[in-house]
Amino acid sequence: MALWSGRFEGGVDEFTQAFGASLDVDKNMYAQDIAGSRAHARMLAAQGVISDEDARVIDEGLCAVKERMDAGTFVFDVNDEDIHMAVEAALTADIGTAGARLHTGRSRNDQVATDLRLHAKALLEELMEGNIALCHALLSAAQEHFGVVMPGYTHLQHAQPVLFSHHMLAYFWMFGRDFERLAAAHKAADASPLGSAALAGTTYPLDRFMTASDLGFSQVIPNSLDAVSDRDYLLDLEYACSVSMMHLSRLCEEIILWSSSEFGFITLSDAFSTGSSIMPQKKNPDFAELTRGKTGRVVGDLVALLVTMKSLPLAYNKDLQECKEGAIDAAKTLMDCMTCMEGMIGGMQLHESAMRAAANEGFMAATDVADYLAKKGMPFREAHAVVGQLVLLCERKGCGLEDLSLSDLQSASSLFGEDVAGAFDIDAIVRARTTYGGTGHEAVRVQIDEAAGALAAHEAQMHH
Ligand code: ARG
Repeated sequence: MALWSGRFEGGVDEFTQAFGASLDVDKNMYAQDIAGSRAHARMLAAQGVISDEDARVIDEGLCAVKERMDAGTFVFDVNDEDIHMAVEAALTADIGTAGARLHTGRSRNDQVATDLRLHAKALLEELMEGNIALCHALLSAAQEHFGVVMPGYTHLQHAQPVLFSHHMLAYFWMFGRDFERLAAAHKAADASPLGSAALAGTTYPLDRFMTASDLGFSQVIPNSLDAVSDRDYLLDLEYACSVSMMHLSRLCEEIILWSSSEFGFITLSDAFSTGSSIMPQKKNPDFAELTRGKTGRVVGDLVALLVTMKSLPLAYNKDLQECKEGAIDAAKTLMDCMTCMEGMIGGMQLHESAMRAAANEGFMAATDVADYLAKKGMPFREAHAVVGQLVLLCERKGCGLEDLSLSDLQSASSLFGEDVAGAFDIDAIVRARTTYGGTGHEAVRVQIDEAAGALAAHEAQMHH
């Protein structure tokens, strides 16, 4: 018999009962559900709605239920639609009348909203820790491989040489912004709906501020209708997860390219590679591919929730039951993928000479040769055209800019002198990019310090 069966004459249909249940996904939130009930009972007693003795018995009973759930010995009854019913039914079976008083001034509508917000906060805290660990791995890679030069690309065509550290730090800053997005979602989740009851508040003198602070919420939602039907914070969570997955997928794509024979820039550690069942030579970047693939499903979770929420009238509607799985899935997927990326970055082996050789190909010095002419007084636009002509000449000759003779160069412009050799030096080209945020060695050292500072600030935010 369901807890709400009073006004029903017919029995429940087995199929619809199973179809309507959320118990399986709710099991993720039993600790939050019990914490919410304990806070509610303490408050009911403090407000004189139930006796202190009832509150004490309820509290003990709830702790006993939690112990069984923690231990995995709790036997869930398929007749219980959700975790709220499972906990309340077990409590009442254990302690009798006092348990039956727990639901005074409360609805499953404000319960589910409370549980979900508490769970979202816990998930986000875990994700923020995972994000910090990943950022540590990227920063360490930038520090460890300082000085390694690789090609920088636009349109996936050779553009200008950059430091590998600079490339790693670009991802560091992306994930740093993801931390801020996760923190913003956490802030959105951090408000208590408890005490809103079904939708309109209640006639009992509930102290919503007491339960909120008891549960560690820093705010109380000011409108009971909004409190039971708002899932914006889950959208924020899923958006933050989606953006971070998108960042991971970009990095995965590069890792996959870099570990191909064509690039040969890196070798992934054995722990983060797989072989083939038929081709004995294969070492595949499966986990980078899997992360890239899982990005689609996290974005799907976000889109599913947006569509579920669209056009929902106030206040609670059963549609809202569909909100939980996607949010939990998005968080778990991102967490796993961050852990995976942390391992891939930490264990990958760099092939510096292949990176350097690639950085010497494809006229990577062209911009700097044009800059050489511009610094001798030629307008940059003209210098660009002169070097463009030289590139064409090289292509005809099948050589690089650095292979042209001084007289070849001087026939294009009399401004060329012996000192042009400096403009072909890959390390010098990198080093010369001294602008703030640029790839020059000194600029990247500054960037590494700033990254370490930003990471320390995120760590402090977690442990304040
Ligand atoms: N199982 C429901 C959910 O997960 C709990 C709230 C149900 N409330 C209701 N009136 N049907 O959303």
